[in-house]
Amino acid sequence: MVKETDSLREAVLRALKGVVGTYGIAVIDAQRPGEIVVARNGSPIVLGLGEKEMFAASDVAALIRYTRQVVHLEDGELAVIKADGFNTFTSDARETAKEPFTVDWDAGHYDNGGYEHYLLKEISEQPDTVARTLRGRIDDRFHIAHLGGLNMDARETRSFRRVKIIGCGSAYYSGQMGAQLIEELARIPADAEPASEFRYRSPVVEPDTLYVAISQSGETYDTLAAVQELKRKGGRVLGIVNTVGSAIARETDGGIYLHAGPEVSVASTKAFTSTAVAFALLALHLGRVRDLSPADGRRICEGLRRLPEQIKEILTLEDRIKELAKKYADSPGMMFVGRVRGYPVAREGAQKLKEISYVHAEAYPASELKHGPLALISPELPTVAIVPDDELLDKNLTTLGEIRARHGRILMVGHRTSEAADDCIVVPKNEVELDPILLTIPLQLFAYHAAVALERDVDRPRNLAKSVTVE
Ligand code: G6P
Repeated sequence: MVKETDSLREAVLRALKGVVGTYGIAVIDAQRPGEIVVARNGSPIVLGLGEKEMFAASDVAALIRYTRQVVHLEDGELAVIKADGFNTFTSDARETAKEPFTVDWDAGHYDNGGYEHYLLKEISEQPDTVARTLRGRIDDRFHIAHLGGLNMDARETRSFRRVKIIGCGSAYYSGQMGAQLIEELARIPADAEPASEFRYRSPVVEPDTLYVAISQSGETYDTLAAVQELKRKGGRVLGIVNTVGSAIARETDGGIYLHAGPEVSVASTKAFTSTAVAFALLALHLGRVRDLSPADGRRICEGLRRLPEQIKEILTLEDRIKELAKKYADSPGMMFVGRVRGYPVAREGAQKLKEISYVHAEAYPASELKHGPLALISPELPTVAIVPDDELLDKNLTTLGEIRARHGRILMVGHRTSEAADDCIVVPKNEVELDPILLTIPLQLFAYHAAVALERDVDRPRNLAKSVTVE
């Protein structure tokens, strides 16, 4: 029971004893408006320290216009804030010591830079954001990646026999791309799984598995809960995170920051590509302490360096992609297909389209088409086919023939044109392992222009949130 004589702090502490579930709350007493008590369990609370003023928010983005000095609360922690300062304490009223840290994003990152939508701004920033993810991390002497934040020596880096990647939504699809990079370059079995499923299925946690959690916001509750489950069972967890100081970054044993700057639009674009690039660096790192040759290391380093310029080239295709998006936008649905390296590209392409245009989009591995979904193919259900110039090119072209034979229309995204397709988007070629990163970009522009053509709320699609901090 809350008593009238309680201070606000005591009242909140007492009331929270009866609260179950996740929350991030702020409580104010109308009689004593000079203080606010905030409490966190699961959902984020960040304090902002101003000049004779204090702020509380669920996201650093909300504070950045006022201050860059922030303090993150931990789960189970509370704070009393007043204009001239704050105190933090645990749910059993023990004081805790917090060091504020300075956010290196500024308010300029949050304006739309003259673009009609944040999404287009963020797509267009990718030459820069990819360069930032790479900056200072490529070593030309040994053709390795410098990833100091992993906190692992060479012996430990060699000791893992498996890599398990978890994340939600686009983070999960970028994890699938990452798993492929790790298997190819480091020859370690790797796979990705939605964190939201992983956390509920009592996962078997193995000591020789390296776990990697991915999150742009660093606050997605399902991913955080999966990390906590892993840690509780003694798993070694790295984070690939964009937001410095976020909950997942704090919970993990080490990791890679993306340095992509804040992502405002709900649908992820620049964080997706930067995550894939971070995985390429991690794969190079894991590979070069194993069997990846210096020559292959060098090939990948050079390929990574070419990415920003090649992304710029792809962005010049925007007008053509806009035309194609208009042409296909009124289809009742679209199929996306890709084989092996192309499959995560197809999944992310379908995800972008459905999220922001609400056009039904389904992604399938190209080889699985004949095992069911081929029945759906008709002139009303066009297919976006991801067809890189790799060792599977012929197989992919055969799939296009199968779709064509069922009168399906095809938009091919790859490194060449083909008569088997109705329309083609040709992107610059990099190393086969890195091509999926580039193939993703036209699909972002395609989804964006389809959503604009359909007059959707591009940056705030219905029913979705930028970071899902609840179960
Ligand atoms: C939400 C967003 C998605 C995002 C996912 C994971 O569902 O709508 O765009 O991919 O969360 O977010 P995270 O911040 O963990 O990468």
